[in-house]
Amino acid sequence: MRLIAWKGLIAAALALGLAVLLIAAAPSASAQPAPAADESALLQKMNGGPLEGRVSIPDSKSAVLIQPQGREWRAVLEGPVKSIGGWLLVLTVIGLAAFLAIRGRIRVEGGLSGRKIRRFSGVERFAHWLTAICFVILGLSGLNLSFGRALVLPLIGPEAFSALTAFGKLSHNFLSFPFVLGVLLMAVLWIRHNIPNAVDMDWLRQGGGLLRRGVHPPAGKFNAGQKLIFWLVVLGAVVLAASGYTLMFPFYLTDIGGMQLAQLVHAVAGIVMVAVILAHIYIGTIGMEGAFDAMGTGQVDMNWAMEHHSLWVKEQGIRSIGDD
Ligand code: HEM
Repeated sequence: MRLIAWKGLIAAALALGLAVLLIAAAPSASAQPAPAADESALLQKMNGGPLEGRVSIPDSKSAVLIQPQGREWRAVLEGPVKSIGGWLLVLTVIGLAAFLAIRGRIRVEGGLSGRKIRRFSGVERFAHWLTAICFVILGLSGLNLSFGRALVLPLIGPEAFSALTAFGKLSHNFLSFPFVLGVLLMAVLWIRHNIPNAVDMDWLRQGGGLLRRGVHPPAGKFNAGQKLIFWLVVLGAVVLAASGYTLMFPFYLTDIGGMQLAQLVHAVAGIVMVAVILAHIYIGTIGMEGAFDAMGTGQVDMNWAMEHHSLWVKEQGIRSIGDD
């Protein structure tokens, strides 16, 4: 009887000891490792690559917890892309203003003859203005995404800025389609006039006659400078559309690294295109007398045409219209 009592006592003591050990070994809230130690261990484990786990849902990219390249992407975007890009645009405007101040408006040196020649058909002008109107809105809404928070928000306040940006983003998405269509039309209509040839070299050697008065190198329908603009617009549109549609339909074609690259390419190409088009708008408006008519009414003064596109005028058989 006494033996049974002892056995019971020993069993109870063992059970109690075991319970104490188990409780001591169990993790408690206060006994967790310090978060900093945890984080550095994780970063070490990543060794420059992404920190990935396993997920049972079909979307495998949701298994990526941390992608360190995201920090590099943000640093490049917020650093060199925005600062160099911003300066490129500012310097383009300053450069054009300085050119206007020094060279002055490029005049029709023979004076306006009053005789007109048709330069662009209705279809050509439609393609141009479709592209131009879309590009201006795409450019402004894109620049607002990059620089708006720093430049526009302080001027108009958060409510107006968020409404403007939301509207801008929608316009940016939808106007990309008619923009691409416009460039495609221009490419089809004008590609045969934009093949480089020997005349272009001569035109370039003479600075296009833009730098000095009295110099009018011969040119066909488009001179070498315009051919350069044409190809920059076509290639720029291809790059902008490819990168833009990658961003608009995320992860269909590429992974997160590809998305980041597409975003950087889109930002750089967009800023370069805006700088190129600023120069184009300058020469098509205040920079050169008589140029705007080509895209406005579709007809230009005969003397303007002879000074800037003499070979093209000859090709036309000097068909003058609208003599007055
Ligand atoms: C928004 C203001 C714009 C104005 C005032 C303007 C004006 C002009 C003018 C006057 C011409 C005819 C030049 C000539 O007869 O020799 C022209 C041609 C052309 N424009 Fe524009 N344009 C504008 C925007 C754009 C945009 C946004 C693009 C493309 C993204 C563009 C692409 C072209 C191309 C490819 C040509 C033919 C090559 C050339 O003349 O450089 N334009 N533009």
